[in-house]
Amino acid sequence: MTLLDAIRGRHARRHSHRLDEVEVDALVDAWARAAEGAGFVRVVSTVTGPTVIAPRLVHIVLGPPAVLTVRLEPGQTVAELRTLARRLAPHLGARALRIEALGVGDHARVTLLAADPLAAPVALLPGRGVLLGRGEDGRCLRVEPADLPHLIAQGATRSGKSRWLYGLVAQLAARADVEVAGVDPSGLTLRPFTGTRHAHRQACGLADPARAEAVLVGLVAEMDRRLAVMPTWLDVLPLGEDEPLIAVVLEEYPALLRALDAADAKLGKRVRALVARLLAESHKVGLRVVLVAQRAEATIVGGAERAQCEGRLSFRVDTAESLRLLHPDADDLAVDHATAPAGVALVSWPGRPTFRLRAPHVASYGAYAAAVTATTRGAA
Ligand SMILES: Nc1ncnc2c1ncn2[C@@H]1O[C@H](COP(=O)(O)OP(=O)(O)O)[C@@H](O)[C@H]1O
Ligand SMILES: [Mg+2]
Repeated sequence: MTLLDAIRGRHARRHSHRLDEVEVDALVDAWARAAEGAGFVRVVSTVTGPTVIAPRLVHIVLGPPAVLTVRLEPGQTVAELRTLARRLAPHLGARALRIEALGVGDHARVTLLAADPLAAPVALLPGRGVLLGRGEDGRCLRVEPADLPHLIAQGATRSGKSRWLYGLVAQLAARADVEVAGVDPSGLTLRPFTGTRHAHRQACGLADPARAEAVLVGLVAEMDRRLAVMPTWLDVLPLGEDEPLIAVVLEEYPALLRALDAADAKLGKRVRALVARLLAESHKVGLRVVLVAQRAEATIVGGAERAQCEGRLSFRVDTAESLRLLHPDADDLAVDHATAPAGVALVSWPGRPTFRLRAPHVASYGAYAAAVTATTRGAA
């Protein structure tokens, strides 16, 4: 290296150093204004009147991706910051923010993402419990089947409801301590179970409406049996291979109700009552309802039944009103969610603020059917 090169190099470094300083200043400024605009500030009263304090940035990595370390003000939480991420992101020049807690929750790491973190597919990899999807923060929602709440999933046609259900059902079917039951008017979701140990509690297709009722009557009878044998000193029935968890899949539930109402109005009414009982009483004795509909409206599931479903997923829905049915707190997200890609859902889950999730990718119906067949073969 000649002396000239060395000097040039030093100049270049100094020059880029100055550019970095400009960028850092711009980010500090943008952060303060974004936080103030979103109301993520502490207001203290001083002799000269109220003073607004935005949480300070204590460290910046320019990246890309740029990563900000924020020292929260007393009273502020990382969870609160997460709920504001969508409002903050555009003012920081980002498409989305990933927010992680640091220290004892008094600091947050904010990563500025140039692309939607949910754009990439999520592989259905084995691990603890069942994988329901991955959130914007990169964390997977994995749940032991016994810890599942009753679930309701809504979404427009081709929004990814069935693919998500395939992933869930395939994982449940692979467990010896889980039985997959349900009624499936599409005929596709439960068809791979034909001839397996699960089939006796399943109704597939709409050719025989009485069969759908019989399956639900059987499930309610099983629930009542379990309630009767539940030891008096317990409020939750212990589960295992003798007393398996029963997942009750109600795929395309509105289509089922329409078909039953058309066949015999009383049949539709009876089935609604059976499902209402399952939702209200079966959780403590090891049954989990997974109800899928285009829209979770009152004619399909009444408010009381909806309230029993603590796990709520909305794939793409067209109106804020639909979203409000399952996520009363998510008005902020409605506009964006109307154009969500297939497989991206808004999720309300016990103990968590509403978040976006990408469902695991099941490559095709064939892959789903093969997965079910592989795990249930010979177990009829
Ligand atoms: N998680 C996903 N990742 C990628 N593509 C998906 C995903 N879920 C659904 N899709 C695409 O969307 C299409 C429709 O999905 P589907 O589950 O059948 O919708 P729905 O049951 O809501 O009508 C699928 O054929 C697939 O191409
Ligand atoms: Mg479907």
